[in-house]
Amino acid sequence: MWIIAVTLLVFTGAINGDDWSYDYETQWPGACTSGTQQSPINIMSRDALVDKHGAHIKGPLVFRGYSNVNASGENNGHTVIWTIEEDEPMPILSGGPLRGNYSFLQFHLHWLSEHAIDGMKYPMEIHFLHIKTGLTVEEALQRPDGLAVIAVICQVHSGEESEYALEELSPMLPKIINQSKLPASVIDLTRLFSPNMQSYYTYHGSLTTPQCQEVVTWIVMDTPLIISDTQYKLFSKVDVGGIDNYRSLQPVNRVIYRSNASLTLPSSLGLIAALLNLSTTMSSIVSKGVCTVVNLKRKFWGNKVQDCNKTE
Ligand SMILES: *[C@@H]1O[C@H](CO)[C@@H](O)[C@H](O)[C@H]1NC(C)=O
Ligand SMILES: *[C@@H]1O[C@H](CO)[C@@H](O)[C@H](O)[C@H]1NC(C)=O
Ligand SMILES: *[C@@H]1O[C@H](CO)[C@@H](O)[C@H](O)[C@H]1NC(C)=O
Ligand SMILES: *[C@@H]1O[C@H](CO)[C@@H](O)[C@H](O)[C@H]1NC(C)=O
Ligand SMILES: *[C@@H]1O[C@H](CO)[C@@H](O)[C@H](O)[C@H]1NC(C)=O
Ligand SMILES: [Zn+2]
Repeated sequence: MWIIAVTLLVFTGAINGDDWSYDYETQWPGACTSGTQQSPINIMSRDALVDKHGAHIKGPLVFRGYSNVNASGENNGHTVIWTIEEDEPMPILSGGPLRGNYSFLQFHLHWLSEHAIDGMKYPMEIHFLHIKTGLTVEEALQRPDGLAVIAVICQVHSGEESEYALEELSPMLPKIINQSKLPASVIDLTRLFSPNMQSYYTYHGSLTTPQCQEVVTWIVMDTPLIISDTQYKLFSKVDVGGIDNYRSLQPVNRVIYRSNASLTLPSSLGLIAALLNLSTTMSSIVSKGVCTVVNLKRKFWGNKVQDCNKTE
């Protein structure tokens, strides 16, 4: 997950920018190594607590103003990120596990996914970063409830229908292969939403990039967004300082809640081809061995990816 330091008055360099790499996670500073509530995690559905009496999840999530967002895209060397333009009305998120309103600031993508669900990683994960309305970033980073991130996992499928989700973004990707910025354009964020935005896991965790502050209410959608294989392949060309831009899984050791709606699985799930089930190799993923993940990438991107044996 990403905060950027470039736009918006509220971002005054509170976040340390560029002097870190996914290749050296053990050297990340601050809470990244000392914290106890770090993200991302592997979410085991059977361990998640269904909040039947609404003590934690008090009602449905409410999304206001997500369909016309004036935002500019950028490759910042770690991810591709779209940030809302200054002085534009911010979409507002509320409800669910959140107390009060949260303003949308930016979204960005990780490939592969950062979270795993039942031991499965996915090809991509979209993060919609929100800040508690009225706070500056400095203030938000000091409070356990300062930020809220909606995570949408993506599954790859070929076919015309699956072009829909990233249709607005994919023409821009070739222009930001290298580190560069695009002019602002209006994006319909609801096209990047999961098919069921009331069906999710939620837990308290951290930013997944330095300084890894433990100030995030994570809301991880359990139904994947379908993207096309053509769109997904575009990301293999984007230079983010390497081919990876996801953090290793972190210890869970905390309560994960599950929304009511997540108990009825949509039938479309049956159509989705099974991905790799990583539960047998969980320990190697935690230590960033990631042989299986390498194989997953090879499946989509061909032999550009390093040989599996060499990564160990
Ligand atoms: C979850 O289900 C319970 C019991 O059916 C209901 O009382 C509660 O309002 C529901 N909560 C949400 C957030 O839908
Ligand atoms: C989007 O923002 C840019 C820069 O602030 C502005 O020039 C442009 O007119 C805006 N577009 C729309 C449709 O509001
Ligand atoms: C949240 O925002 C809505 C509309 O944007 C407003 O009506 C409501 O009063 C706000 N709630 C809080 C707790 O500030
Ligand atoms: C990106 O950088 C590479 C190598 O530096 C260069 O060959 C290529 O033309 C650049 N692409 C764009 C879209 O700027
Ligand atoms: C992954 O594999 C494990 C053990 O083989 C199994 O229990 C689990 O249900 C599988 N998960 C999924 C999502 O298929
Ligand atoms: Zn992220």
